[in-house]
Amino acid sequence: MSKKKVLVTGGAGFIGGNFVQYMVENYPNYDIYNLDLLTYAGDLTKHREIERKNNYHFIHADIVDRETIFNYFDKERFDFVVHFAAESHVDRSISDPEIFIRTNVLGTQVLLDASKEYKISKFLHVSTDEVYGELDFDPTTFFTEETHLQPSSPYSASKTSSDLLVHAYHETYDLPINITRCSNNYGPYHFPEKLIPLTISRVLNDEKVPVYGDGKNVRDWLHVYDHCTALDLILHDGENGEVYNIGGHNERTNLEVVNTIIKSLGKSEDLITFVEDRLGHDKRYAIDPTKLEKLGWNPIYNFDTGIKQTITWYLNNKDWWNQIISGEYQDYFKKQYKF
Ligand code: NAD
Ligand code: DAU
Repeated sequence: MSKKKVLVTGGAGFIGGNFVQYMVENYPNYDIYNLDLLTYAGDLTKHREIERKNNYHFIHADIVDRETIFNYFDKERFDFVVHFAAESHVDRSISDPEIFIRTNVLGTQVLLDASKEYKISKFLHVSTDEVYGELDFDPTTFFTEETHLQPSSPYSASKTSSDLLVHAYHETYDLPINITRCSNNYGPYHFPEKLIPLTISRVLNDEKVPVYGDGKNVRDWLHVYDHCTALDLILHDGENGEVYNIGGHNERTNLEVVNTIIKSLGKSEDLITFVEDRLGHDKRYAIDPTKLEKLGWNPIYNFDTGIKQTITWYLNNKDWWNQIISGEYQDYFKKQYKF
């Protein structure tokens, strides 16, 4: 592979962070630029290992700050942009939608304008299956790339808006793009506001685990490593202008997920606490990944092997998540769950 400069936005977060590490390790001849504002969800301690490598660079910046973003594009002349930076948590979007529009919509537009101006070779927009809205519980139905866009939450509406902008820049200005729509990720460095790391960290501390509604909502889980390999493949081989769904056929109800974690850690199901349902809570997500499989992608984890690896990682990295669940996170948790 010839030398490339890759701008990764949101590379201090969960998936972007895993992707930055994956790229730095697997493409020693590429320069990887992690651009991140370091919001509550961003943290650089995860990159201590790669910080010493010559091909890793950090840029502290806000994607909405047009002047700064254009200056970096002018200075560095990136080849690829892989765009993760976003406000990502559905519950936060329900209580405070405004920042989701600012970051996810306006921020994406700034990056698209800079990518157009500096003629990058590919803009890879990391989106979500939530743009399709919800499926019912019929297990033979799946989201395909042709499924109608019908987002339910302010978060997914902001992501859908950004998808449409990316598509429009391709149609109008010929910007080379791909859009990816992945199902729920889990794995190392997942911020403990999300179901799986929240459950692991609370069960380990013998604290109540909040389950929304009746716990029967279904999510389709993919290990973050498999998301990274899919993005790598699409970045290099994805057909210009195309959308790719990413998922590995691992549907579980929320109760199944929580019970699996409790059982693996040898704790009691009494920790489960049913709480008021999320507003507009999507019933079920399930991805049809046929198009991506045809491109040559295969995940290495199923849910059973992936959750084992993840639980072990959380057991071995208590310092990382303990530093996060103290401080500001406590205020968020009390406000969100009232316990
Ligand atoms: P995250 O919340 O863990 O990380 C988001 C990162 O973006 C943080 O490091 C944060 O500091 C940074 N950021 C936020 N606002 C910024 C701004 N204005 N300028 C620069 N950086 C900013 O998110 P995640 O779960 O890793 O998700 C990453 C992307 O993947 C998002 O676009 C999300 O929509 C998408 N996605 C997530 C999942 C999932 O299961 N988590 C699944 C599919 C797609
Ligand atoms: O599908 C991809 C999406 O997955 C991404 O686009 C989002 O960025 C990411 O946050 C995730 O969204 P979800 O809303 O599905 O993830 P979350 O972990 O918040 O919730 C998973 C399920 O668990 C959902 O049905 C709500 C439920 N839940 C969640 C929390 C935080 C609970 O029952 N209790 C909880 O405390």
